[in-house]
Amino acid sequence: MIKPINIPLRTVKSFVVRRGRMTEAQELALTSFWSQFGLNLADGMFDPAQVFGRSGELVLEIGFGMGEALISMALAHPQQNFIGVEVHPPGIGNILREIAEQNITNLRIYKADAKDVLDQCIADASLSKIQIYFPDPWHKTKHHKRRLIQSEFVQQIRPKLKMGAVVHLATDWEAYAKQMMKVMSSAEGFRNCIGEHAWASDPMRPSTKFEQRGQRLGHAVWDLVFEKNV
Ligand SMILES: C[S@@+](CC[C@H](N)C(=O)[O-])C[C@H]1O[C@@H](n2cnc3c(N)ncnc32)[C@H](O)[C@@H]1O
Repeated sequence: MIKPINIPLRTVKSFVVRRGRMTEAQELALTSFWSQFGLNLADGMFDPAQVFGRSGELVLEIGFGMGEALISMALAHPQQNFIGVEVHPPGIGNILREIAEQNITNLRIYKADAKDVLDQCIADASLSKIQIYFPDPWHKTKHHKRRLIQSEFVQQIRPKLKMGAVVHLATDWEAYAKQMMKVMSSAEGFRNCIGEHAWASDPMRPSTKFEQRGQRLGHAVWDLVFEKNV
């Protein structure tokens, strides 16, 4: 009898981990502060009462890059709890350093694929907001399958959101903005807070590094704000 061979299924990733150049401060922060502010998939379901010692609104940012938006939001909203998810080592080192230097107590970090974090660590109906600012646009047609904002992903995040919770997306790539609008407008269980097929004219968020880079290149920016209504 021929034995079946177990070939692991290759899943399409929305990122490529580039080691990038880490500064000494980022390296040091990764080794010094991970045990204090890092969260691990292996720890299982995230428990805000255990981690933050309190409940409260929970905001998840996917792909925070260097973390400037997340840091300034965590500082501006001390009553809310924040989780950041990223795979880019210099960004993770940078945000850990900021958390420690600025004594930020309402923010924790996963160094993992957000899809795994959502699957393994985030309880249903626990999030007040998911924010994804300038996800990789994956310009080439052959790479569009890597884009994060797709129908399947939106239905993965939906159960994690409380009723009335918000999904805030931003991009500086017009074709991706249109894709986001199409996916979100046709997604079961969501309503556009701005109006049917309308973009937010006020971004209602801090500026990000990737956004500033796009602006230097003359890119426009599109913000989408949807609410879970079913
Ligand atoms: C284009 S950058 C934007 C970074 C930041 N939001 C900004 O605006 O400056 C997109 C980031 O998303 C991260 N990313 C993409 N897919 C991810 C995933 N599935 N889980 C975690 N991070 C992801 C990448 O590592 C990258 O740092």
